[in-house]
Amino acid sequence: MAHQVGIVGASGYGGVELLRLVDAHPALDVAVVAAHSQAGERVDTLFPNLPGPRVFDAIDAAQLAGLDLVFLATPHGPALELGADLARRGTPVVDLSAAFRLPVDGFARWYGEEHPAPELAPHADGSHGGERAAYGFPEHTRDVVRGARLVANPGCYPTAALTGLVPLAPLFVPGTVVIDAKSGTSGAGRAASDTLHFSHVHGDLVAYGAPGHRHTGEIEHWLAVLGGRDLGPVSFTPHLVPMARGLLATSYAGLADGVTADDVQDALASAYADEPFVAVLPPGTFPHTKALAGSNGVQVSAVVDERTRRVVVTAAEDNLGKGAAGQALQNANLLLGLDETTGLTAIGVYP
Ligand SMILES: NC(=O)c1ccc[n+]([C@@H]2O[C@H](COP(=O)([O-])OP(=O)(O)OC[C@H]3O[C@@H](n4cnc5c(N)ncnc54)[C@H](OP(=O)(O)O)[C@@H]3O)[C@@H](O)[C@H]2O)c1
Repeated sequence: MAHQVGIVGASGYGGVELLRLVDAHPALDVAVVAAHSQAGERVDTLFPNLPGPRVFDAIDAAQLAGLDLVFLATPHGPALELGADLARRGTPVVDLSAAFRLPVDGFARWYGEEHPAPELAPHADGSHGGERAAYGFPEHTRDVVRGARLVANPGCYPTAALTGLVPLAPLFVPGTVVIDAKSGTSGAGRAASDTLHFSHVHGDLVAYGAPGHRHTGEIEHWLAVLGGRDLGPVSFTPHLVPMARGLLATSYAGLADGVTADDVQDALASAYADEPFVAVLPPGTFPHTKALAGSNGVQVSAVVDERTRRVVVTAAEDNLGKGAAGQALQNANLLLGLDETTGLTAIGVYP
């Protein structure tokens, strides 16, 4: 029998992408599609790609606790409460928000509040999983995810940036990592706002959130843990680009003496040789966001600038795919003991 799953926050962009993916998954049934202000509304009034009479449910923790797995695709505030409640009841959870991605000190520093469920946050030393939340970055943490009950799905920018940086971390000069990243507007969620209005976004390109964007802390912490060394502070600047989907992270770092272009390419190629969702491109070719639309893929490439002794790493993904719902489903497959790629093998839509 198929596993019964719930999606909380199904009226949002991450949640509805999950709904699209889980509806097509051969081993999962969507039992609950819960929303907040949209509870009681038909799904197809918001999302015409999913026609039919289905209606958003109200959020009912007791009902959700009886399911085989719950995806949380809400802001981190409600996810902290519901995620902790479900985890304590033993219900497997994959949380797309930032509620459980950081140790308590990092959470307080970057989110400005004490963590209300410190016993579920990852440890400062990088240990995670088990009773605590696992950082769900399967290419680097799949064994931890398999044994976890609560999975913190990485942020969209951290997923792209870390895909390129983690395998190369041993080659860098500490303190030199700079990340310049761009996302389509769906990265900001479904809620309308003045800055996301078509008339403002169309034809525009703007930076935001620098220098203290919250994903900086997540990237620094997990780059140190997964890259195996503390590389010091990271500079990170996100930008908003006038497209609905897609995210590109361009990262720069100084290379240690003696590191060659072959060392860089070998490190990336060997890290991802057996990974179904990560494509390492040849040096001199650059990933396109458009090529990943609707898929769970990431494409990454690196070139070495011998003049500056810096590497330039670019990684592209669909922010709602590998950056959110696709990766969440990859983690759910691992949690439920299914093949990790189930329901995720569609390639991107192009052009
Ligand atoms: N968008 C991305 O590219 C992306 C990528 C990675 C991670 N994420 C993370 O995923 C989560 C969802 O993001 P999103 O972009 O899908 O946001 P969104 O489009 O704004 O949707 C938010 C969802 O949360 C629900 N919600 C809002 N306030 C709530 C509350 N107090 N209690 C319960 N539910 C509430 C909303 O319900 P109603 O609409 O019914 O009010 C909606 O279903 C966020 O934590 C975000 O940081 C997003």
